[in-house]
Amino acid sequence: MEIIAKIDVLRECLAQEAAIAFVPTMGNLHAGHIHLVEQARKHGQCVVVSIFVNPLQFGANEDLTSYPRTLKEDCEQLIAAGADVVFTPTEQTLYPVAQTMLIEPPPIANELCGANRPGHFRGVATVVMKLFNIVQPHSAIFGSKDFQQLFIIRELVRQFNLPINIIAGDTQREDSGLALSSRNGYLTPAQKLEAQRLYRTLQMVVDNVKKGNRDYALIETQSSQYLTQLGWIVDYISIRSATTLAPASAEDTALVVLGAAKQGKTRLIDNIEFSLEN
Ligand code: PAF
Repeated sequence: MEIIAKIDVLRECLAQEAAIAFVPTMGNLHAGHIHLVEQARKHGQCVVVSIFVNPLQFGANEDLTSYPRTLKEDCEQLIAAGADVVFTPTEQTLYPVAQTMLIEPPPIANELCGANRPGHFRGVATVVMKLFNIVQPHSAIFGSKDFQQLFIIRELVRQFNLPINIIAGDTQREDSGLALSSRNGYLTPAQKLEAQRLYRTLQMVVDNVKKGNRDYALIETQSSQYLTQLGWIVDYISIRSATTLAPASAEDTALVVLGAAKQGKTRLIDNIEFSLEN
């Protein structure tokens, strides 16, 4: 496996590759990322993983400086998973001058996670566009846990006519149901035990809707209150159309329930996509 930090070296290394499958990450890899790498293997002969903690997508009071950086362990895992190339640019390499040209995502980027993280998806879309231009992949794999991010990346590819096949990787979970996330490492053992409740709550929402309850606003309020009473700081629980991400109407049949809430200082997100068609 090649570990490459410079753009020109990476371009030279990939110049002859006919089918590149790309997995962009911020490192601190876990089984969820490795699953994406395994999926990438099915979509390309050369699997490229990037590791870059992108300052542009972090807010002023977020965990940019404390975000875990574990390059050595990440590379060991990637070798075992069969990745071909790891791209590890520095901030100076990706942003040699102030990034004043930015990708402005659609208004949906200001809802859900974007409502409390202004500019987050602008930062994500901008770095992903840069990485796509550098790596020039044929396919790129993104985790479904970040459902809104995946939606925005699909829009980026669609609206800028990028010749890249975007593939959604399934969310990987612990036996408890807790979605794997680099931020789970911040949780105390007691918080980790409680953290599984976010997924269970989303499951309760799905059951409720599948039973025929169409008062989505009430379901959202009740499930948020339930978590709040148990000590969570709830950002949102929201039932949306899985195709447009607009708030779900009673006519929508392809749905997703998304949730974001804090256990202590750790913000967790999760979602469940489901269908009301038989
Ligand atoms: O999902 C992530 O890890 C990041 O948002 C991404 C896509 C690598 C962009 O920095």
